[in-house]
Order: sequence, then structure tokens, then C-alpha cells
Amino acid sequence: MSQPVIADNQPKAVTLQKGKKYAFCACGHSQTQPFCDGSHKGTGFGPKVFEAEQDGEAFLCQCKQTSNAPYCDGTHQQFSQAQVGQKAPDPGPDKQGPGL
Ligand code: FES
Repeated sequence: MSQPVIADNQPKAVTLQKGKKYAFCACGHSQTQPFCDGSHKGTGFGPKVFEAEQDGEAFLCQCKQTSNAPYCDGTHQQFSQAQVGQKAPDPGPDKQGPGL
């Protein structure tokens, strides 16, 4: 599978409701980051549906390279502003994809 697009090089702070299900964008193409808007069609990716474990603010990944999807794990720090909107570089044989 190819790499997702880096939607941004920083996480998005969102307010989640405990027990509610959300569709996290895994392809990076959605215009409603960090959530799915259906833009993944034909990319080989699908959204990651997750249930919020608690009420409150959460930082969701927009670089699509976190190992803790849908949550930011700091991986975005390796991407520059120039890489936003581009496919993420191949992670090599040790790591495949955004951990989805
Ligand atoms: S935005 Fe922080 S790891 Fe992706």
C-alpha cells in the first residue's frame, strides 16, 4: 500500500464525547481533518472508526504517521511545512503505514 498524504504537520485539537464513534481519516485526503469525508475512495485506505474513551479535548494526528492512531504521538515533528499535502516518505521495512 502506498503512503497516506500528510494533511498537516501538527495535530488537531478536537473535543470528543465519551462513547461516541468517530471516523478518523487515514488517507490524508479529507477536507474535514482529522475526520473522514469520503475522499479515500480509490486510495486503498479507509477510515479508522474509533470510540472516544473520555469526554474532552484530544489531539488527533493529521500527519497520518502516528503509531497510536487516531492520536498524535509526536511523529509529525519530522515533517516540514513543505511536505504538507505530499505523500509521506516510505517508512522502510521496519515500519509500514500509519499504524492503522
Ligand atoms: S500529527 Fe502528531 S503524530 Fe501525526
